Amino acid sequence: MSTMQAFASSDTAETYNYTVVRQFAVMTVVWGVVGMLVGVVIAAQLAWPALNFDIPWFTYSRLRPLHTNAVIFAFGGSALFATSYYVVQRTTHARLFGGPLAAFTFWGWQLVIVLAAITLPLGMTSGKEYAELEWPIDLLIAVVWVCYAIVFFGTLAKRKLEHIYVANWFFGAFIITVAALHIVNSMAMPASLTKSYSAYAGAQDAMIQWWYGHNAVGFFLTAGFLGMMYYFVPKQAERPVYSYRLSIVHFWALIFTYMWAGPHHLHYTALPDWTQSLGMVFSLILLAPSWGGMINGIMTLSGAWYKLRNDAVLKFLVVSLSFYGMSTFEGPMMSIKTVNALSHYTDWTVGHVHSGALGWVGFISIGSIYYLLPRLFGRDAMAKPQWVELHFWIATIGIVLYIAAMWIAGVMQGLMWRATNPDGTLTYAFIESIKATYPYYVVRFLGGVLYLSGMLLMLMNCFMTIAQGKSVKAPIPAAAAHA
Ligand code: HEM
Ligand code: HEM
Repeated sequence: MSTMQAFASSDTAETYNYTVVRQFAVMTVVWGVVGMLVGVVIAAQLAWPALNFDIPWFTYSRLRPLHTNAVIFAFGGSALFATSYYVVQRTTHARLFGGPLAAFTFWGWQLVIVLAAITLPLGMTSGKEYAELEWPIDLLIAVVWVCYAIVFFGTLAKRKLEHIYVANWFFGAFIITVAALHIVNSMAMPASLTKSYSAYAGAQDAMIQWWYGHNAVGFFLTAGFLGMMYYFVPKQAERPVYSYRLSIVHFWALIFTYMWAGPHHLHYTALPDWTQSLGMVFSLILLAPSWGGMINGIMTLSGAWYKLRNDAVLKFLVVSLSFYGMSTFEGPMMSIKTVNALSHYTDWTVGHVHSGALGWVGFISIGSIYYLLPRLFGRDAMAKPQWVELHFWIATIGIVLYIAAMWIAGVMQGLMWRATNPDGTLTYAFIESIKATYPYYVVRFLGGVLYLSGMLLMLMNCFMTIAQGKSVKAPIPAAAAHA
């Protein structure tokens, strides 16, 4: 009898709350498919604009925020809820605090997602990037998020192990910071149930928006996923974290530095020049803590590299770290004002975003969910382990096509826009740069189709695993032991 089955048959001991972890884990895959499908649709619309079909709610302008909200908050958010709830319980030997509050965060978050999926295509938006949802939904997000904080920190408070494992530091920082960012940036004056106006104006509005926007990258798309990395990489590699000291040093360095980097999104704008330079300098500094985390994750594999040959889950986790390293090298470079003068407004930014999003956020989440699912449903492995390997390769080829196409397109656009003739007139009309971009949009679309196909494979594999398994009840160890 496997350990999992032994856990499954024990109903008497106090158990971990796996129900909410299971719910969020399954929805991660479902929302991943939905969000990426919308990504593929808008990628197709950029190549073939007629695919708008002249239907207002199907236009690019409305589907694009639907894509970003679905992939970041529905897919990424569900992955973060699932893993943080699992990790905080396993590393503290305590059941989630707050009884039904955890279930409330699940249903509340799903409601937010459904409301987003209805209002964004209808054109209801506050117009703030990554914070488009209107004020009643913003209020719901704030309530759900505060409950999330109560459940997470309440669990830490009643922990049975004295030490707080570093993954929880990252999850904790992510939860607190996202609450602060969301509440400050969403301050608005409602004009009706579906329309509000920001409490800020002009350059201040822009500054607050990108303080929010960049820290959404730093805390939503990075710190929380580093929490995942610190639990699932050592677990899957069966090795301790390379340097615990480095994990603490880069934690403090990362959360301090991210806070100041926002103005790199506003180079050459009405923002005071000194704030732009400050943003650039802090972005350059950010390379160090980012690579500290990446190196710590990758070096955890010391002595276990041979496992990569046969372990597709580990492949996802390790390659995600390579993409993390790559995008956190590229980001500081793009924050240099003279480089940004070329990259800004071009598809280079979109390439940077997706090397972080598909490579880092996507792969670390996919790897972690593949680790979790069999354990949550009392199986020793996924129903089709070969499909996990296939998923890895399809998705990797998809990312390479996507980001290489966007890099080439982006640099080309930047160079075309700045090219001048000897008499000072522009060499190219704007439309010529769009025409030249067409083949790259088609390649990006194909890359997206591959990445989405991998997710569909994962979805089928998950359903088969769940169908063959049953919900596990995991008892909490009585004496202090390792998680
Ligand atoms: C099948 C996979 C995906 C495809 C085909 C796809 C496609 C796209 C497209 C076409 C855009 C619009 C680009 C533009 O405005 O020019 C976009 C934007 C964006 N996507 Fe994706 N995407 C995918 C997955 C993801 C994932 C998993 C994430 C995050 C975890 C993500 C995050 C974003 C963000 C943040 C933007 C806004 C970028 C910017 O403003 O620079 N995408 N995506
Ligand atoms: C050291 C780390 C990083 C730095 C310094 C950095 C810097 C930058 C810079 C300079 C831009 C272009 C701003 C512009 O011209 O408008 C940018 C855009 C962006 N980056 Fe990064 N980046 C980093 C890591 C990441 C990671 C890991 C992700 C994703 C997981 C990410 C997601 C994004 C997004 C979504 C945007 C587009 C924002 C928008 O305009 O909508 N970045 N980043």
